[in-house]
Amino acid sequence: MRLASFALGAFAAVALLSPAFPQSADQPVTGPWTDKSLSPDRRADLLLEQLTLDEKLQLVHGGSPYMGEETRQPAQSLGGAGWIPGIPRLGIPDFQMTDGRSGVANIGNRGRYATALPSALAAAATWDPALAYDYGATVGREVRELGFNVSLGGTANLIREPRNGRNFECWGEDPILIGRMLGRELKGTQDQGVIGNINRYAVNDQENGRFIYNTVIDRRALWETDLLAFQIAIRESGVGTVMCAYNKLNGAYACENPYLLDDVLRKAWNYKGWIMSDWGATHSTVPSALAGFDQEMPSDKFYGAGLKAAIENGKVPMSRLNDMVHRILRTAYTLGIWDNPPKPGPVNPFPGAEVAQRVAEQGIVLLKNADAQLPLNPTVSSIAVIGAHADAGVLSGGGSDQVDAAGGNAVQPPPNSDRNATRRSGVWHPSPPLAAIRALAPAAKIAFDSGADPSAAAKLAAASTVAIVFVSQRTTEGRDVENLSLPDHQDDLIAHVAAANPRTIVVLETGGPVLMPWLDRVPAVLEAWYPGIRGGPAIANILFGKVNPSGRLPVTFPKSEADLPHPVLPGPPKSDTQSTGADHQPEVPFDVPYTEGLQVGYKWFDAQDKQPLFPFGFGLSYTTFTYSALRAGPKQITFTVTNTGSAPGAEVAQVYSSLPASAAEPPKRLVAWQRVQLAPRESKTVTLAIDPEFLSIFNLDKQSWELLPGEYRVLVGGSSRNTPLSAAIRVVP
Ligand code: BGC
Repeated sequence: MRLASFALGAFAAVALLSPAFPQSADQPVTGPWTDKSLSPDRRADLLLEQLTLDEKLQLVHGGSPYMGEETRQPAQSLGGAGWIPGIPRLGIPDFQMTDGRSGVANIGNRGRYATALPSALAAAATWDPALAYDYGATVGREVRELGFNVSLGGTANLIREPRNGRNFECWGEDPILIGRMLGRELKGTQDQGVIGNINRYAVNDQENGRFIYNTVIDRRALWETDLLAFQIAIRESGVGTVMCAYNKLNGAYACENPYLLDDVLRKAWNYKGWIMSDWGATHSTVPSALAGFDQEMPSDKFYGAGLKAAIENGKVPMSRLNDMVHRILRTAYTLGIWDNPPKPGPVNPFPGAEVAQRVAEQGIVLLKNADAQLPLNPTVSSIAVIGAHADAGVLSGGGSDQVDAAGGNAVQPPPNSDRNATRRSGVWHPSPPLAAIRALAPAAKIAFDSGADPSAAAKLAAASTVAIVFVSQRTTEGRDVENLSLPDHQDDLIAHVAAANPRTIVVLETGGPVLMPWLDRVPAVLEAWYPGIRGGPAIANILFGKVNPSGRLPVTFPKSEADLPHPVLPGPPKSDTQSTGADHQPEVPFDVPYTEGLQVGYKWFDAQDKQPLFPFGFGLSYTTFTYSALRAGPKQITFTVTNTGSAPGAEVAQVYSSLPASAAEPPKRLVAWQRVQLAPRESKTVTLAIDPEFLSIFNLDKQSWELLPGEYRVLVGGSSRNTPLSAAIRVVP
């Protein structure tokens, strides 16, 4: 985040600290804490004993290098989102932090390259934990190659609000899918020798009013939705840092919320890493410190002189400051960033590009394919490629997750446009689908039309054998979309083209779900999300069947906003004539009431008996699959999947379960899944363990998960609304 209000605090910190701590990182330091044979906790204790009060305080707040003028940046900062000076006399290097979700973000202005991976939501659509690991490893390797040692990583927030501007950063709407995929992703990052991060803890599910709204949710729903996603991901990754969110949760700011930080994260989950704030999300000194909050980023507003005074006057015990610092030091030792420090250098672009393409290809979801319109035959005589700058590149999501486009934005705003022009039109990675389509159909006559004039586009479509319309929805951190319709009259463009050519294929590049009023009029639709630096070839490979689509929706696509739990995006009271501040944010606090409780995403559509446009878990293939031979027990289930078509392909076999009526749960929940690669006519037996926790409910009285006795119905199939196999299992008390 780059709000001016935080800049002052950050630069003040830098000015204060620089003279006192000249950087001479090369000087060899010896001391018992450098003994690698000791445990990280022991080393942290030994080092802590050496630190003065000011040195301890130095480690618990940031100096941010990138807010504002370049010249004010400290020389040793690498220019990432956050920087904390080290303590050379004790061999503690600087903490160099960068956003690292779909890649190392916002470093292009320093002339450096990083791989633009597809959005996290695209990666979630692969339903492939091994690929999520590769995704995270790519981020971690490049974070390290560029010299950073902390990667501000993925979010476990659920997609509750399809209009949320940050949905592209999410891993879907189901806590188990999110937890398992993100857990592998973060593990992949940390295995590269950098400190990872999970954010934005918690229930930070819309952008409008993000600094001031208060999320209201009952505790059982909290545990079974967003907290569950965080719990699984933290447990499976051992992630070193948790970033608390901007918003309030049930009345208290996330970064000073004793329930979230102390009761749940530190005590119930026994979390050993450190808790940093989102950028500017710290609101106090004493309440934050006593709630278990460890590190203010990126300024010293509360954890500089204010924390020093609170320690000195006893309002915050020294043991709490020691705990903050211990957590930071032991994490650095656990993940090896000091024993094996990163050295800044250039990124090797090739391995990242390979992973980016694999994720895009596995994550693209084929939503409709009437009359086997796809795959296209390379001998097709003519193709009209229309819209969404398909001649130049593919769209990406905006904000702190923004990976700079290699060589500059592929779509430059018109000359003399205002400062916000790029912000409106977005950053496009130079991976043009048009060129990739041309490469796969070299004999075809292929023409491009920008789509600016629907009649001109329709004319080209009418004169072509096939029309491929690219449409896009720009979404960004800092603001939600006003509605789920495609912007800039693109629905109209599709309608015109479809009327001119019945063989019209729509390719969506969106941050999340959109409405499709034209769906009945087009035979084929692909959801390509924000597909990253190899998006063009990935889309073309799917269109021509070089890759058989296997992505599945990690989020429900509704038919209309009226079907959502909140048909209108929560905001300040209408009567309020408030102005909007930076980022067009409202300035009057308001509640975001998650009255739907446990019914998030598909659970809402199931419970309310509403038909979605496309259900959670859905995605087509160029082949077909059948399911048979289900055997189900409470801990494990076995079934067979068969490829009944003529193309090799991967099915994502999904297992859902209902709970006994006494649980008062939505009709079903995802409990397990597996991607199964099958040759034509091949069958495979799939055996999946069912984690009893995933069948459990959170018992508030006992403050723990509870597996209720009774009958559970296990449902198996290719989407949440297509489960041909089912069996009852009984859990006995
Ligand atoms: C975002 C975080 C990000 C931070 C640093 C904030 O605005 O919410 O996700 O890590 O900025 O760039």
